[in-house]
Amino acid sequence: MTSMTSFIPFALPDLTSVEFDAVVEVLRSKWITTGPRAKDFEARFGAAVDAPHCVAVNSCTAALHLALEAAGVRPGDEVIVPTMTFAASAEVVRYVGAVPVLVDVCASNHNVDVAAIERALTPRTKVIMPVHFGGVPADMDEIVALSRLFGITVIADAAHAFPCSYKGRNVGTLADVTCFSFYATKTITTGEGGAAVTARAGWAERMRVMSLHGISRDAWKRYMAEGSWYYEIVAPGYKYNLGDIAAALGIVQLARADEMRARREAIARRYDDAFRGEESLELLTCPPDRTSSHHLYVIKLAPQLDRNGFIEKLRSHSIGASVHFIPLHEHPYYRDTYDYRPESLPVAHDAFRRSISLPIYSAMTDAQVDQVISAVLRLACARRESIRGPESRPTATRLPVETP
Ligand SMILES: Cc1ncc(COP(=O)(O)O)c(C=O)c1O
Repeated sequence: MTSMTSFIPFALPDLTSVEFDAVVEVLRSKWITTGPRAKDFEARFGAAVDAPHCVAVNSCTAALHLALEAAGVRPGDEVIVPTMTFAASAEVVRYVGAVPVLVDVCASNHNVDVAAIERALTPRTKVIMPVHFGGVPADMDEIVALSRLFGITVIADAAHAFPCSYKGRNVGTLADVTCFSFYATKTITTGEGGAAVTARAGWAERMRVMSLHGISRDAWKRYMAEGSWYYEIVAPGYKYNLGDIAAALGIVQLARADEMRARREAIARRYDDAFRGEESLELLTCPPDRTSSHHLYVIKLAPQLDRNGFIEKLRSHSIGASVHFIPLHEHPYYRDTYDYRPESLPVAHDAFRRSISLPIYSAMTDAQVDQVISAVLRLACARRESIRGPESRPTATRLPVETP
């Protein structure tokens, strides 16, 4: 059945007239590449995550690459990465010629399993890269303790994780370097963008220099009134700088970050309340000692339900959904290069087969949230009945209502 309601996309940026005006103002200023707004955004974002140093760049991928480079990761080194993540987390390891060692995750929240990290440690392990999956911080105390014991660097992939906290500490303070994403679907957006934050002044300086062609100092200022044409290249750097148009967006989004997070949290609570009693759905959990950014809302279907069919049905009910993630070890490149089988990392494999990410973003209306809840419960109920018969029907009060 195709619903007549308008399509609810899986993700949508929350952009207001304030963002529009900020971008127009940059265009009017004629300074449209890296400049004062990028520097302003950098300072503000660093302060927002309690980090002494912040390097704003044009993606989280760039930030992760710069962090590995600054940490001195070399060909032959090993970097431990959870398999349940996006392409970026491991591809940057290959950029520096190192080996991504993929490890399994916890079933409860899809964050990296610390015991799996311990098993994967070797004398060549140079970096552990936890990914704060969906915006829930990973088990950072245990990970940092391991890293200190063995002299390993921790570079956190916090692409999903702003704003959030761990044991009362800001997510920007937990690792040696923490990398954020401001991609279009993320919790705050600059269209494309990212940042690396750290307490290490030397690494921050290296990342800053390498983010703009390896030019020694304030390369971005060279066309400004107070700038100089003279520059020196001290290393073969990259072109990773964040422009002022993007930064202007970021400054406004940053000011709205808590308000947008509060809205996502309210949506997550509504989903939790609606889905908690449905026996064919499993929900991920956030440990009580941390807060989530609520970037993703993942449901796991009972193993015998058809996940792909469920997503198709949601689409026919005008609801966009996604899957986070196809585990890296199941992709041809990692599977074939490093000889993984799907069952090599069984928790992630099972989670992938059963997971669906539902829409959760601050621009969603209550009516849209209800539409998602209604469709999910109806489909879960119908599928459970087709497997087990009508006696598995939930109590009348929880029966989903047809959306108009
Ligand atoms: C876990 C994770 N890491 C890194 C990235 C890369 O972010 P960006 O697109 O800003 O490079 C993403 C993007 O979706 C992600 O989900």
